Amino acid sequence: MSEGIFLNARIGSDKTAATQDLPAYILPSDAHEMDRLNLQHRIWSTIMHGLCPISKDELDLVLHSKSGHPSPKILDVGCGSGIWCLEIAKEYPHTTVVGFDRTPSKPLSERTTKLLGNVLQGLKQFHGEFDLVHCRVVMSHIKSDMQKSVIQDLVCCLRPGGLLIISDWDEITVDEDDVMLPAAKDNSEPGERGSWLARVTNEAYARDPIDSVLRFIVSDALKNSDSVDQETLGTALYLSPVGWDGGDAEHGAYIGEMVRIDFMDAFDAFKPIYLKRGIPEHVVHEWRALLDKELRGISRRIFTRWHSTWARARDLNSDLRTAGSIFSPDLAVGGPESPAQ
Ligand SMILES: C[S@@+](CC[C@H](N)C(=O)[O-])C[C@H]1O[C@@H](n2cnc3c(N)ncnc32)[C@H](O)[C@@H]1O
Repeated sequence: MSEGIFLNARIGSDKTAATQDLPAYILPSDAHEMDRLNLQHRIWSTIMHGLCPISKDELDLVLHSKSGHPSPKILDVGCGSGIWCLEIAKEYPHTTVVGFDRTPSKPLSERTTKLLGNVLQGLKQFHGEFDLVHCRVVMSHIKSDMQKSVIQDLVCCLRPGGLLIISDWDEITVDEDDVMLPAAKDNSEPGERGSWLARVTNEAYARDPIDSVLRFIVSDALKNSDSVDQETLGTALYLSPVGWDGGDAEHGAYIGEMVRIDFMDAFDAFKPIYLKRGIPEHVVHEWRALLDKELRGISRRIFTRWHSTWARARDLNSDLRTAGSIFSPDLAVGGPESPAQ
């Protein structure tokens, strides 16, 4: 993997016999979906005030050049459109950035490498290689019984002292009073508690209710890992309004509108899944109208949540270990803890 070369190499084809039994990714990878992911990236960078949940000083510490050492390396697992790779490469031009995804995309840039492969086949080829491993909105697409081992594999990709950041959508919808909303039911009475966002998400993943809260799975997996420096473990929970300004939320109207468009586009991307599951087209059409009313804040005003969890790999031989203490643990950002769990 050399810096300065674009390499669209495939590590293990999705179509090999070994992967035929692996669960498929249910969203498309067309230009429209890439636009949606780029919009979602804007949501992340607005709520996080940057590309990562930690401060610039903390990130600089992880990605600083060490004399006599090769340039710091960054891996983005499930990189999608590659927008995060491009932006981190711009912010840290001395680093080598590698994006990894099961679906091909346009070349990223001359300085950024994209490798094709399936995370469910293991990441052994990356073990011990990276100073920063980033994985955003991928884990929620991994079956819950496989998430723990994927997280462990991500930890293994770190060099000693390297930083892992896992971020995702929280998949829980709350009302204006921060109370979790159940999935809406068909023919519900006006005023009955229930969210169409929760309903269409559950329908897309064929589940109700959600079987596990991902951010707890992530932090538990990191807490139980001997390879992780426990003092550096941190979490953040971000609350964002959907289709309204969220009251006094910072950049509330801007975030609310971006999230509304993101979720409506995601619904449209899920449409073939609903039809494949035998849901009649007119029902899908009805759900869309009900979702639209909710996401515009007409039938109810909702918030959704995003979470991030990070930690550094143990580095027993380095005085960098003490620097771990400047990492902010449990940085709760403007959101209530899950009322459900
Ligand atoms: C919702 S997108 C997020 C993209 C990007 N991380 C972002 O935040 O903009 C999820 C990405 O993960 C990729 N993905 C899902 N399952 C994967 C797997 N098993 N192996 C590799 N990539 C996977 C998908 O192809 C898709 O590009």
